[in-house]
Amino acid sequence: MTFIKYSKIACAVAFACTLGACNLAAVSDTTTDARQAPTVSADKQNPAMDQFINELMAKMTIEEKVGQLNLLSSDWDKTGPSMSADYQQQIKAGKVGSVFNAYTADFTRTLQKVAVEQTRLGIPLLFGYDVIHGHRTIFPISLGEAASWDPAAVKTSARIAAAEASAEGLHWTFAPMLDISRDPRWGRISEGSGEDVFLSSVLAKARVLGFQGDDLYATDTLLACAKHYAAYGQSQAGRDYHSTDMSERELWETYLPPFKATVDAGVGSFMTAFNDLNGVPATANNYLIQDILKQRWGFDGFVVTDYTSINELVPHGLAEDLSHAAQLAINAGVDMDMQGSVYSDYLPELLSQGKVTEQQIDQAVRRILQMKYKLGLFEDPYRYSDNTRQQQQVYKAEYLEAARDVARKSFVLLKNDNKVLPLNAGQSIALIGPLADSKTDMIGSWSAAGDRYTKPVTLREGLQQRLGADAKIYYAKGAGYEFNDTDQSGFAKAIAAAKKADVILLAMGEKWDMTGEAASRVELGFPGTQEALMHELKKLGKPMVLVLMSGRPMTINWANDNLDGILHTWYAGTQGGHAIADVLYGDYNPSGKLPVTFPRHVGQIPIYYNMKSTGRPYEPAGQEQKYRSRYLDSSNLPLYPFGYGLSYTSFAYSAVTLSSAQLSPEGEITASVTLTNTGDRAGEEVVQLYIQDKTGSVTRPVRELKGFEKVQLGAKESKTVQFSIKAADLAFYDLNMNYTAEAGEFNVFIGTDSTTINQASFRLADTVKLHSALVLKQSQSRVTR
Ligand code: NOJ
Repeated sequence: MTFIKYSKIACAVAFACTLGACNLAAVSDTTTDARQAPTVSADKQNPAMDQFINELMAKMTIEEKVGQLNLLSSDWDKTGPSMSADYQQQIKAGKVGSVFNAYTADFTRTLQKVAVEQTRLGIPLLFGYDVIHGHRTIFPISLGEAASWDPAAVKTSARIAAAEASAEGLHWTFAPMLDISRDPRWGRISEGSGEDVFLSSVLAKARVLGFQGDDLYATDTLLACAKHYAAYGQSQAGRDYHSTDMSERELWETYLPPFKATVDAGVGSFMTAFNDLNGVPATANNYLIQDILKQRWGFDGFVVTDYTSINELVPHGLAEDLSHAAQLAINAGVDMDMQGSVYSDYLPELLSQGKVTEQQIDQAVRRILQMKYKLGLFEDPYRYSDNTRQQQQVYKAEYLEAARDVARKSFVLLKNDNKVLPLNAGQSIALIGPLADSKTDMIGSWSAAGDRYTKPVTLREGLQQRLGADAKIYYAKGAGYEFNDTDQSGFAKAIAAAKKADVILLAMGEKWDMTGEAASRVELGFPGTQEALMHELKKLGKPMVLVLMSGRPMTINWANDNLDGILHTWYAGTQGGHAIADVLYGDYNPSGKLPVTFPRHVGQIPIYYNMKSTGRPYEPAGQEQKYRSRYLDSSNLPLYPFGYGLSYTSFAYSAVTLSSAQLSPEGEITASVTLTNTGDRAGEEVVQLYIQDKTGSVTRPVRELKGFEKVQLGAKESKTVQFSIKAADLAFYDLNMNYTAEAGEFNVFIGTDSTTINQASFRLADTVKLHSALVLKQSQSRVTR
């Protein structure tokens, strides 16, 4: 058979940030590019594919078609509550189109052989897996990568993950995860890019372009999957799988833009979320899938459910039974059923009862077959399962080096009193804490096929290698980090170690599986006996530095008040120990900035920088009055704000200057600052641009991130950084849900984090209406029986 190389994804929109400053227009507009494409049929760019699929589908029985909609897990990994024991039998029976949790060249080849040689039509399987932050070589968790504010680094991480995973027979990754979250109780906050729409959208594109490369047909790229669609990150009370309920405006402005950014970048698949959104679970939500994704945005890939989420329509209380659930899901536009077997069990019967149409089933089958075709699987079903390539690709030295570099870029220096950091090699160290020498913890959750027992470099190992034979490291685990740890018998050894050392280095935080799926918490302090040990060590009066590891913001008030230095290192990946040592000893000057606000107390959640002002805004410390929007027992302010992060050098910003105080509807103005490295060593600073729309037809946030640029400067060096501002950067969903930039006054803030007061103002001369949003009544979607 002839294969025509598919290149549509190669010409996806240009990535807005590869050349330096990231600006907004390309990522925030969820409504543009509306194409009327509710169904997928002939791909005009690829008539050969169309003909091939038409001919194939003409030969398929309903059972074979429904088989293509069925995705089953192998027994190699468990990423959900139940598994299908007989998946191999079902492949042989032609009842499975795709398999997940199966990898290595040999195993995928074995399963592929069954599908190709033992089923009537020999349609190849599609192999998927959760390749989230690395495949074998593990990079920092996604939230950590986001703290780099470095789209190129994030893209590199995804590119390498794709190179390794595709060499092990995988075609498809269930990434990127795009759920904005402002609730650190939710364990899955670790899997996304934090709280901000703009930063998340920029990084969403970077990840898609990294995974998919510029040619999906190439055997070193992976089909990406935008998940979890949509609004899962707002799960009530931070409890996983819980419901979400929000205004249309909140949905379109905050939760949808990262998904739209991936459609613009050419993402090939979408995964529905577990949650109920405004009364309709995402997996049966016509509005989200048919109306917005497939019609409005013209998405032409396929939509897969999350793990058994069609089945879950029954306990949600939407479907009467599994048959009804299948009907609701196919009607909503869900193409593939992950692990639930609901489509394969019920669609043939629903078809014969006239409750679904063959055209609906064909649409879903076509979208999936098209993707298999684009990946080249009909040409050679084994082209990704290549043992030689697997040997060459996995844990390559250059991949490990890249993982170390991205890790260093992801660390955030939260405190550095009296320049306690960087350390000098002559100082002796007491290295204390349950995370100091734990390989398992270094790579965090969703670490795919990463080896968590032998490969990860711990902090202790990293320090030993950095300091060599002269190292004076006194190590003691000291404390426990399980929730129920109360035993303090390790304290004495830790205190004895600390007494011998010049500096106490604590490696503390959360155990690796306290974030990720099904890992919500109600308290965000240090689990176990860690903080109690810190209190004891403090009594020694020695310099204390915390290397914090966690997958979420934690409430670390005591540590902030009492320790000299704090470096947040998330879960840093396979090379974590080396990367942390690089930063602790100043071989790399930290440059990360928080992608998420750190609260002082759980009671402040949800807490995020771009909140509304209220009619009774909070007043600065010392000027508080009663009858204001505030707490009696805490400041409103976070412990560390969004965008915050220190360096070993210092930076000074000039005042903001604008090229004009007036912006015309078609025009643009330039906002500039001069950044100076005022310290005595080279460093990087993320220059952040925020805009406030002072009044509108609906109230606007106190400020919103609209651009950033990571700038490297030598000691005493200066650079002028410029951002262009157009009307499109000022748009929001107005009172009538039209995407509009309204005439009026705007404040521009440019500085080191989201609290900067370095400000200038301009006026947008006239209102500019960009697009109307698609807002439909969800009742139109309901399938009655
Ligand atoms: C459930 C998770 O929610 C999702 O993110 C993941 O991709 C699937 N399981 C498959 O493992």
